[in-house]
Amino acid sequence: MPLPKAELHLHVEGTLEPELAFELAARNGVKLPYADTDELREAYRFQDLQSFLDLYYELMAVLRTERDFEDLANAYLARAAAQGVRHAEIFFDPQAHTSRGVEMGTVVEGLWRSLGRSVENHGVSTRLIMCFLRDRSAESAMRTLEDARPHLGRIVGVGLDSAEVGHPPVKFREVYEAAAALGLRRVAHAGEEGPPEYIGQALDVLGVERVDHGLRCVEDPALVERLVRERVPLTLCPLSNVRLRTVDTLAAHPLPAMLDAGLMCTVNSDDPAYFGGYAGDNFDAVRTTLGLSEERLRELARNSFLASFLEDDEELRQRYLAEVEAYEFP
Ligand code: ADE
Ligand code: ZN
Repeated sequence: MPLPKAELHLHVEGTLEPELAFELAARNGVKLPYADTDELREAYRFQDLQSFLDLYYELMAVLRTERDFEDLANAYLARAAAQGVRHAEIFFDPQAHTSRGVEMGTVVEGLWRSLGRSVENHGVSTRLIMCFLRDRSAESAMRTLEDARPHLGRIVGVGLDSAEVGHPPVKFREVYEAAAALGLRRVAHAGEEGPPEYIGQALDVLGVERVDHGLRCVEDPALVERLVRERVPLTLCPLSNVRLRTVDTLAAHPLPAMLDAGLMCTVNSDDPAYFGGYAGDNFDAVRTTLGLSEERLRELARNSFLASFLEDDEELRQRYLAEVEAYEFP
C-alpha cells in the first residue's frame, strides 16, 4: 500500500496521456500533427517551460465536450488513487478552452461529472482550482472570473500559471482582490522560472495561501526565513523541475536542504503525462535519488494534508492525517 498523500499541484490538462489524446482526437475528428503515440512521446523533450507549454496547449485541441473532460479527470483519478492519493486539488485552465470556443460550462460541468463522484468511484476527495493564464491580460483574467460566476459552487479557489518570466503577480492584483471578495482561496505559481521577488509579490500583493513551486526561494535567505516563519506551503514538483530544466538533475534538487531549513514542502506531479510520473512516482523518485528518510516522507505526506483546502471538512483532514501517522513503510 502506498503512503497516503494529497496532490496539491496538478493541472488536469497535464494528465492527458498520448493514448487518450489520440482516442479523443478520433472521437472529435481532430487531426493531430503526430503519426502515433510514439511520435508524440518523442516530442516530450523540453528545453524550458515555454517549449512544454507550446505542446501542452496544442494537445488541448482534442478536448471539446463534457464527456472529454469527464474522461480526462476519471483517467487521472484512477491513476492517482493507485499511487496513494487520497485528496486532490485540481487545477484547470479555462482560458485555454474558452479561447478555442469551448465554453466554461462545458469544462466545469464536464470535470464535475467525474469529480462529483470521485469519492464513490475512486476513493479520492477533490477540490477544483481555476487558473488564470498569466501571459494573457489581466482584463482577460477578470472576464474569466466573471464567466465562472455561475459555477463558483464547484470551484474552491483561483491560481496563476503559464509563462512566468515577464508576467509578475502584481499584474493580477485586481483580479485576486475580486476573487477574494467572492470568497475564493488563492494560490499562484511563483519562483518556478521567475525570480524570488515574484514569491514575495504573490504573498504580499495577491494574498496567496500556498505558493506553487516556490523553488527559487532558495536564492534569497531572507525570503526562506519568512516562508519558514509564516509556514507558507510550497507545492514542489521534482520530476517537472528536471524535465523543464529548472534543476540540472534530480540528484541536485534542493528539496532535502529545503526540508532541513524548515520549509513546509509538499511533493506533487504538475503535469504527470508529460513529466514522467504521478504523485507516487515523484515520492518514489525523491526517496530513491535524494535518499529521503521515512520520517521525511511522512512529513511530506503530513504537510500535503495540512496545506490542503479542507477547512470545510476538518474531520476528513484529521482522518487523512491519522492514516499518515499510522502508515507502515514496507
Ligand atoms: N501550466 C501547466 N503546467 C505549468 C507549469 N509547470 N508552470 C506554469 N504553468 C503551467
Ligand atoms: Zn504547475
